Amino acid sequence: MNKQVTVSVIKADIGGYVGHSAMHPGLLERASQMMEDFRSRRVLIDFHVTSCGDDLQLIMTHTFGVDHPQIHQLAWEIFRECTGTARELKLYGAGQDLLADAFSGNVRGMGPGVAEMEITERESEPLLIFMADKTSAGAWNLPLFKMFADPFNTAGLIISPAMHAGFRFEVHDVKQHQRIFFNTPEEMYDLLVFIGATGRYVIKAVYTREGEVGAVSSTQRLALIAGKYVGKDDPVCIVRSQGKFPAVGEVLEPFTMPHIVEGWMRGSHYGPLMPTSVRQATPARFDGPPRVICLGFQLAEGRLIGPRDMFDDPSFDEVRRQVNILADQMRRHGPFEPHRLPMDEMEYTTLPQVMEKLRDRWEALPETLTPA
Ligand code: 13P
Ligand code: 13P
Ligand code: MG
Ligand code: MG
Repeated sequence: MNKQVTVSVIKADIGGYVGHSAMHPGLLERASQMMEDFRSRRVLIDFHVTSCGDDLQLIMTHTFGVDHPQIHQLAWEIFRECTGTARELKLYGAGQDLLADAFSGNVRGMGPGVAEMEITERESEPLLIFMADKTSAGAWNLPLFKMFADPFNTAGLIISPAMHAGFRFEVHDVKQHQRIFFNTPEEMYDLLVFIGATGRYVIKAVYTREGEVGAVSSTQRLALIAGKYVGKDDPVCIVRSQGKFPAVGEVLEPFTMPHIVEGWMRGSHYGPLMPTSVRQATPARFDGPPRVICLGFQLAEGRLIGPRDMFDDPSFDEVRRQVNILADQMRRHGPFEPHRLPMDEMEYTTLPQVMEKLRDRWEALPETLTPA
């Protein structure tokens, strides 16, 4: 097949079961029925519905291209419909991520997270779809950097002639709404200056040097859209693998390091990211630690052959153990940084209300105590 196929992953938190820990099976069932209907009407080529923690994940293939109103609208309809079910069951935070009442052509800026890529399906097209809960956009910066730019992670950068030229990174400044491109390896240090600040600079996509897309992520920041804390942005990311892209094992390898991300309890803490099976993506301890799941598919004429639950493997047991050790260590800090997020990030949580309440209680230091 030489025609283009679009892979869309659109997700939203529409109500948690119990609290923010997981998704009620009734919602998954309702979403699957609706997707089945869209597939039988040939709007979709194929789909897979899953959840990561309390987020409903809609994985779809179709031929409409990215950002298409029809696809975004069907996702919105499913989220609305399942929110109804969530309300009946009085699930926690029903409709949490739906920040608008009416659909206006595109779910971007309306709460749901979106990652989409339009590709020409290769002879064989292994796809890895990452979904995380209790963290935010920016959590993919370190793993994407390792996959596509770190030769200690990705042997193919050294060994494979198809990858030796390096890659091109698209980085978004989510606060100033601007973007920049960097070529690696040449501009690796410049790239790292920015993507190390994960709360502001987010890797949106990675391309081959010829411009073919290899990875895309969701970059929605709910608090920046809503102007207040309404839950975390629990991001998703699509990665193509093998051939001119990193091998499956190279794409998974970064998750053997329990790297620290923002999120966890009340979206206000740093904690280690734990790769788990779909079944174990049910953040419990202190509403965490943050989870990441990965579903693998082979595309066949747009059909999603799979999924394989990639972290459901004993080779990730050790990182899970290390995450628990780190989680203990972080938790012992209680409300102190660097477990709790720094002030500028807390601005997007409930802190401003506390600040406002105490505003008039602050008094100037006596002159004897101020610097000369
Ligand atoms: P490709 O370069 O053919 O994708 O495979 C490399 C490999 O053997 C991965 O382990
Ligand atoms: P979610 O963003 O996954 O809904 O989590 C919110 C929260 O406050 C967890 O403690
Ligand atoms: Mg929630
Ligand atoms: Mg969530």
